[in-house]
Amino acid sequence: MPVDSSLEKTADSARPHRAPAGQGIVPLLVVGGLFAAVLAAALLALAGDPVDPGVVNAYGPTVIRVTAEIGCVLTVGSLLFAAFLAPPQQSGTLAVSGYAAMRMASWAAALWFVSALVSVPFAAAAAIGRPVTSVLDTRTLINLIDLLPEAKAWLFTAAVAVVITVGARIVLSWGWTVVLFLFAMLGVIPVAVTGHSSNRQHDLASNSLLLHLIAAALWVGGLVAVLAHGKRTGSHLPLAVSRFSKLALVCWLTMASSGVINALIRVPLDSLFTTSYGVLVIGKVCALTMLGLIGYLQRERSVRDLRAGGSGNLLFRLGALEVLIMLATFGLAAALARTPPPAVFAEPDPVELRIGYVLSGPPTLARLLFDWRVDLVYGVIVGALAAFYVLGVRRLRARGDKWPIGRTVSWLAGCFVILMATSSGFGRYAPAMFSIHMETHMMLSMLAPVLLVLGGPVTLALRALPPAGKDGPPGPREWLLAAVHSPVARALTHPVVALVLFVGSFYVLYTSGLFDAAVEEHWAHVAMNTHFLLVGCLFYWPVIGVDPTPRQLPHLARLGMVFASLPFHAFFGVILMSMQTVIGEQFYRGLGLPWTADLLSDQRLGGGIAWATGELPLLLVLVALLIQWSRADEREARRTDRRADADGDGDLKAYNAMLRQLADGDRP
Ligand code: HEM
Repeated sequence: MPVDSSLEKTADSARPHRAPAGQGIVPLLVVGGLFAAVLAAALLALAGDPVDPGVVNAYGPTVIRVTAEIGCVLTVGSLLFAAFLAPPQQSGTLAVSGYAAMRMASWAAALWFVSALVSVPFAAAAAIGRPVTSVLDTRTLINLIDLLPEAKAWLFTAAVAVVITVGARIVLSWGWTVVLFLFAMLGVIPVAVTGHSSNRQHDLASNSLLLHLIAAALWVGGLVAVLAHGKRTGSHLPLAVSRFSKLALVCWLTMASSGVINALIRVPLDSLFTTSYGVLVIGKVCALTMLGLIGYLQRERSVRDLRAGGSGNLLFRLGALEVLIMLATFGLAAALARTPPPAVFAEPDPVELRIGYVLSGPPTLARLLFDWRVDLVYGVIVGALAAFYVLGVRRLRARGDKWPIGRTVSWLAGCFVILMATSSGFGRYAPAMFSIHMETHMMLSMLAPVLLVLGGPVTLALRALPPAGKDGPPGPREWLLAAVHSPVARALTHPVVALVLFVGSFYVLYTSGLFDAAVEEHWAHVAMNTHFLLVGCLFYWPVIGVDPTPRQLPHLARLGMVFASLPFHAFFGVILMSMQTVIGEQFYRGLGLPWTADLLSDQRLGGGIAWATGELPLLLVLVALLIQWSRADEREARRTDRRADADGDGDLKAYNAMLRQLADGDRP
C-alpha cells in the first residue's frame, strides 16, 4: 500500500504540542533490556539454578525469555497506541503518530518472532534435561514439539509474531490496526498457560498469569509507545496521555491482584523471606509499589500540567524512569519463572494434577449450586460487563432518560448465568465430567446469549457514551459504532454464517476428535467457553436482539433461523446418546472418579441434557420472537393510524382515487 510521504513530515494535528522529542527511547530500551537480561541471569546464578551445564544452557533460556517478553509488550503497546490512543485521520487512515507506532510494532514483532522461535529448542531441551545442541536436528525437534505443550506454545507465539511483523508494515487503516491489536493479544496467551502455571491449582495459576501478562503488555508497552510517539500526536497529546493514564491505573490494579494471587498459589506467606522464590516475589512487590508512586505523580502532576497546556517535560522524564524500573522487573519476573517454588505443598493427587483442584464428592444439586470456585477470567469479564451496564443505566437515569427495567434484569441475569456456568459448582465439575460440561455448554451457548441480547447493550452504550462531535477525535462511542458496522460484524451476522457457526461447532467439536485433544488443557476449556458464548450471541443477536444488527432480518427470516436450528440440536443430542465410544475417554478415565466409572452413561446423560436443555431455550426464543413480531405489527399499525390522522386519510383517498381511475379506464 503506498504511503503518503507527507505523513513523515507533519504532526497529527495542525497545532503542535510543545513536548520534548522522544528520540531517546531506543537507547533507553536497549539499556533497560540488557540490564533486565543480565539481572535475570545474575539472580539465577545467585539462586544456584542447577538445571543445565554451560553458559548457553544455563542462561540462554532466561535471556531469550526476557527478550521475547520485551518484544511482546512493545508490539502490543505500539498497536494499542495506534488503535486507541492516537486518533486517526478523518478519512480513517492512521495519522503520523499511528503510522510511526505501526513501524515500531513491526520491528518489535520481528524481535518477538525471532526470540519465540529460538525459545522452541530451549523449551524442548529443558523439558528432557539435555543441552540445547542435542535437540537441534529437525527430526528430534519435531518429535519433541509434538509432545511438549511449552514448545508448541512458543511456536504458536512465533506464528502470531510473524503475522504482526508483516501486517504492521502494510496496514494503514484504523480498522485493520484494531484487528492486528486483537490478534497480537493471542500471542500472550500460550506463554501464560504453560511453564510454572501447569502445576498445582493450575486453573487459578494460568488465569491469574494470563491477566498479569495482558496487563503488563498494555501498561509497559503502552507507556513506551506514548513516550516514543506521543509528541507526534501534536495537540492530541493530552488526550492520548489521559486515555493511557486511565488504562495504566486499571493495569496496575490488575497486576497487583493477579501477581499476589499467583504468588500465594506457589509460596506460603511464611516462606516469603526464607526462599529464593519468596525473595524474588518481594522484589516484585517493591517494584510495583515504586511504579505505583511514580504513576501517582504522573497523574497528579504531569497529566494535569499537560492538560493545562504545559510542556510535558516531567511526563517524559518520569516516564523514562518508569520504563527502566519496568524492564528491570521483567528481569526479576524471568528469574522468578525459572526458580522452583518452595516444595512445601503436598503432592497433588491425580484429579488436582489434571484439573487444578480436588472434588469433594459426586455432583449433588447442593454442590452444583453452592460449591463455588471463581474463574478469574470469567469473573473479571462478567464483573466488568455488569458494572459497565449498570453505570450506563445510571448515566441515562441521571439525565432523566428512561431505560426499560426488563432489559437491565435480562442483562444481569445473562451475566449471572455465565458466572454460574464458569464459577459455581457447575464450573467446578465441568472439566471433570462430560455431562456437567454439556450442561455448562448449554448455559453458555443457549441461555446466557438469549438473556444478554435482550439487554440491548449496544443501544445503551450508544445512548450513554458522549459523541465525539463533528471534528472531535473518535472515542469509545465511535469505536463501538465502527465495530457494529464493520465488514466482519456484517459477515458474522449473516444468517447462514451465524447458523452454521452455532450448530456446526457442536458437530465439529465433539465428533472430530477435537474435544479429545483439547479436554486436558485448561486454556482449551477457557477457549471453548468463549467460543460457545460468542457463537450463541452471534446467533441470537439477529434473531431476538434489542440492538439493531448490521443486517436487519424480517421476522419471518428470524423465525426460519430458529426452526432451521431445531432439528440439528435434537439430532446432536440423539447422536451423543447413541454413541458407543466415549469422547475424551483417556482423560476422564485418568481422573478415576468413582462416581463416573461408567463413562458411557455419563456421556448419554450429556446427550440427554444437550437435547432437553437445548430445546427449551429455543422454545423461549420462539415465544419472545412472536411477541416482538406482534409488537412490531402493532407499532406499524399505530404509525399508519397516526399518518392517516395527520394527512386526513391520505392513503385511503389515494387508493379510492386509483380505483376510480381504473373504473373510468374500463368505461367505453
Ligand atoms: C505485586 C507485584 C507482583 C507480584 C506479586 C508478581 C508475581 C508474579 C508471579 C508469581 C509470577 C509467576 C512467575 C512464575 O511463573 O513462577 C509473575 C510473572 C510475571 N510478572 Fe509479575 N508480579 C508483580 C509485579 C510485576 C510487575 C510490576 C511486572 C512488570 C512490570 C511483572 C511482570 C511479570 C512478567 C512479565 C511475568 C511472566 C514471567 C515469565 O513467565 O517469564 N510483574 N509475577
